[in-house]
Amino acid sequence: MDKMEQDPITSNEAIKRADYAREKGEIVLREHEYDGIQEYDQKLPNWWLFTLWGAIAAFFIYYTLYYTLDLLPSSTQVMDQRVAKIEEQRAQALKALLDNMDDSSLVNDWATDTAVVSAGEGIYTSMCAACHGADLAANGGTTGRALNDGEWHYGAKPMDVFKIINEGTPEGSNGYNGLKMVAWGKSGLSAEQVAQVTAYLISLNPDDFKEYKK
Ligand code: HEC
Repeated sequence: MDKMEQDPITSNEAIKRADYAREKGEIVLREHEYDGIQEYDQKLPNWWLFTLWGAIAAFFIYYTLYYTLDLLPSSTQVMDQRVAKIEEQRAQALKALLDNMDDSSLVNDWATDTAVVSAGEGIYTSMCAACHGADLAANGGTTGRALNDGEWHYGAKPMDVFKIINEGTPEGSNGYNGLKMVAWGKSGLSAEQVAQVTAYLISLNPDDFKEYKK
């Protein structure tokens, strides 16, 4: 018989020999050899086997707890809960703000408060000027609607301006030449910040809102 057919580890004799050598703490080298490479015939160390079986067991425990029995929330559920909580907080903040804000207070209180207006200016410069222009002219109307042309497409009341900024282009609207605006109240600004930037715009367009002036 040649070497290939007689793989020593498959014969009982060889297994016994290997066990014996192992008991004596010797390193066993399997007899076969390919391209000058031989294999050790060693037991895997216990620490290594522990990680292997441990990982397999952990998978079953995890899968059962999280998915079969649904005892613990999966990371998706945790994230959904957090998002829901944040949305609820935002909704509450918006409600609290709206309870104390109307057309008149936006014009007479918010837009006349220098701290509010300068906070609004900061927001405008960093988040709005890119599309609406530092001069409110929207780069000649190429990147958004001008905010200094006396026209308020979604309603000319102060609260309408707040609303379009807070909620963005309404669903079903084509926007402005197909360009739509995001709902800032849902993407980056708190309700209070939306009010501040609204106050800033009102302060720069006093003629548009003079009927609300006390
Ligand atoms: C990515 C570009 C972009 C940015 C940034 C942007 N807008 Fe707009 N905005 C638009 C477009 C486009 C419209 C027109 C939407 C429509 O008609 O539905 C618009 C419309 C508006 C309107 C309505 C104007 C009108 O004449 O009726 C207001 C008010 C407004 N934006 C305020 C803001 C404020 C405040 C910010 C910053 C928080 C802001 N926008 C940031 C693109 C932008």
